[in-house]
Amino acid sequence: MDIAALRAAGARHLIQSELLSDVVPAIDGPVFVRAAGAEIFDADDRAYLDFNSGQMCSALGHNHPRVTEAVREGLGTLTHASSVYFNAPQLRLAARLAETFDAPLSRSLFIQSGADSNEAALLFARRATGRTGIGALHLSFHGYTDVTRAISFAAATPGNGPAIPEVFAIPAPYAYRSPVPAEGEGWWRPLLAIAFDLLDRECPDNLAAVIAEPLISAGGVIEMPPGYLKALKAGLEERGALLILDEAQTGLGKLGSMYAYQEHGVAPDIMTLSKHFGGGLPISAMVTTDAVAERALAGGLTFGHSHSSDPIACTAGLASLDVIEEEDAPAKARAIGARWRERMEELQQRFPMIGDVRGRGCLQGVELVRDRATKEPAREEAQEVYRDCLKDGLLFSARGQHGNVLRFVPPFCTSGEQIDRAAGILERALARRA
Ligand SMILES: Cc1ncc(COP(=O)(O)O)c(C=O)c1O
Repeated sequence: MDIAALRAAGARHLIQSELLSDVVPAIDGPVFVRAAGAEIFDADDRAYLDFNSGQMCSALGHNHPRVTEAVREGLGTLTHASSVYFNAPQLRLAARLAETFDAPLSRSLFIQSGADSNEAALLFARRATGRTGIGALHLSFHGYTDVTRAISFAAATPGNGPAIPEVFAIPAPYAYRSPVPAEGEGWWRPLLAIAFDLLDRECPDNLAAVIAEPLISAGGVIEMPPGYLKALKAGLEERGALLILDEAQTGLGKLGSMYAYQEHGVAPDIMTLSKHFGGGLPISAMVTTDAVAERALAGGLTFGHSHSSDPIACTAGLASLDVIEEEDAPAKARAIGARWRERMEELQQRFPMIGDVRGRGCLQGVELVRDRATKEPAREEAQEVYRDCLKDGLLFSARGQHGNVLRFVPPFCTSGEQIDRAAGILERALARRA
């Protein structure tokens, strides 16, 4: 394979708008050719520990044999079908997914990406309530379509034209950088009070829903503090509005439980799933209750895309659920998370640059600062660490409002040796800057 020629062609013919292009432009980065488990290989056959799980979609491990086999068989049976009528894998997946909830989330709609599942959630919330106002946390990320960009303040980029109307930012409870002291149980209550005060003034009697990630991922690996989502839901119920949880990054075992809503003791009215739901293939779901679905559909509602509920994607989703349950992905996430956390806390003892270590299971973050007292964000240093680790064979991402949070998403199949190796690569990169 003449990679130099391919790269040159890519430079001429690809539209380069990739994430992290300010840190390592894709044109200068590795060209991936194959992967297995927790490792991905470039055109020079260099292995990288993939602590980004691809784009977080390969959390089961790259090319999981169970998913590969199911898809191989499905490709010979039914790849695509009209989305006007049901297909068998779609029906099986809807029933199977409903069994995974201990909340009345009984109805699903299958689409392709995290963004389109969130668009569907907003549409259904608006139709079900007959209202238009949508609240979202000011550090959230829900996708890059126009609708989801409007509620993704973590990725606000100027120059894209006006966002959709009737969306309102509310303060995210970010303990490490909270404007109110993050001390004691319920420290976040003033922030939630401000959120509802804003929403009551900005869209009185017109709030349809608030959308939230149970653990804000791209916005900086920020955990919703205990009690916050429950209180948010109670406030929404008082106002006749819905709670949408975007579990793209937190659901299906990633944090150590099947779904993050279970840990917060709060059942959402609408939930969205994507990322590793298809075991590496594109499929997402918007899931809701009988009541919300009924109310949303009452006035007639058409929704879907050419590839909605594609049999091959639903087949991948079914295999992926099998793997998650049979291999007990939540238990694996807990074990990986505990070992990684231990390594990170050791590094925090040694390197003052590590201001905070947080997250859970297979979604963890390390926030770099120039000074632990002032918490001045170490953005450039984070980028240098990222570049060094990439060179040394470790993939992750640098995120957060200041770009100074190193985010690690190892797949469920990551071994203890791989965790320690990744921590060693990170340690060397930090030591060069100490
Ligand atoms: C929480 C969350 N929701 C939605 C999305 C958008 O998903 P997609 O890129 O599949 O549209 C992302 C992507 O990173 C995400 O992190």
